[in-house]
Amino acid sequence: MINLQGRTAIVTGGGRGIGASVARLLGRCGANVMIADLGAELNGTGQDAGPAASVAQRIRDERGAAAHNVCDVGNLTSVQGLFAETLEAFGTVDVVVNVAGNLRDRTLWNMTEDEWDSVIRVHLKGTFNTVSTAARHWKAIGNPDGNYRLINFISAAGIYGSFGQPNYAAAKMGIVGLTYSAAQSLARYGVTANMVAPVATTRMVTSIPGSRNILSDNEAMNPDSVAPIVAYLASERSAWSTGRIYDAGRRVFKVYGHLDTIAHIASEEAWDLDEFVTAVETTLLPAVANDPSPRERLRAELAN
Ligand SMILES: NC(=O)c1ccc[n+]([C@@H]2O[C@H](COP(=O)([O-])OP(=O)(O)OC[C@H]3O[C@@H](n4cnc5c(N)ncnc54)[C@H](O)[C@@H]3O)[C@@H](O)[C@H]2O)c1
Repeated sequence: MINLQGRTAIVTGGGRGIGASVARLLGRCGANVMIADLGAELNGTGQDAGPAASVAQRIRDERGAAAHNVCDVGNLTSVQGLFAETLEAFGTVDVVVNVAGNLRDRTLWNMTEDEWDSVIRVHLKGTFNTVSTAARHWKAIGNPDGNYRLINFISAAGIYGSFGQPNYAAAKMGIVGLTYSAAQSLARYGVTANMVAPVATTRMVTSIPGSRNILSDNEAMNPDSVAPIVAYLASERSAWSTGRIYDAGRRVFKVYGHLDTIAHIASEEAWDLDEFVTAVETTLLPAVANDPSPRERLRAELAN
């Protein structure tokens, strides 16, 4: 039911982990796939054409159309080269899937400026680089019925506020704001912009202390189990969804509701400070107390 024939998808981070699973499924659905991957170490350093080349070869072996580009998403010139090469190889760019990522985990009180900058550069600036380059391209085409797709990977680490990942949590929630903005501004050019918060056993997860035993034996944690939501969002069928976050993993798919206010206080005149404090504590405080955080809701869900 998902036919991506004639559509071209760029998959950043497509050389390994979830990105490789996504790229292969898009290829099996008929898309031309450009694997854009630096072949970096988990911390973002180093470069290796091998992972991107071998995923592209695997797609071709499965009778799909694929090419690869050793792109550094944190570098705008590199991303512009990626788009030029994709257009030359396949003639169009219809779908951009931003999966590339690195980690430099550290507590807030120990994190260095370099660790902060590195993660913000790959995730947040990297997503800005591909999204803004795609936006220029699709605006120039100017087709309100274009069926173009942005699919940005975010993380529960941002939604739940992961303890030892302040840089990563901030970068991922930055991508949420960027995607909301893209969904607003690019709708007129036939673009939808959605997000996926995945969970799957990859080197990124097994690097987290204590996670290996819980995750690695579970077949449902295979990165292939994340890919169907990306194939769906990449297709023309998904035109009804934009500005949405999907949670994907363990063969379960969820959609998040919008952020919304849960209570308010208002005054016709400037607030008297004592009245303000009373109103806060009689109206906002109980609303907060009755509104469990996503982390608390997840804990309760896992306990059942
Ligand atoms: N695995 C999970 O459970 C999980 C959970 C939440 C979010 N995510 C997100 O999903 C995405 C994929 O994660 P994964 O677990 O497959 O990780 P992974 O480490 O297996 O793969 C990441 C890929 O990104 C590439 N990359 C790194 N820096 C790059 C750069 N500057 N330019 C281009 N490519 C670069 C790497 O070479 C690698 O192939 C990431 O955005 C990650 O933050 C993963």
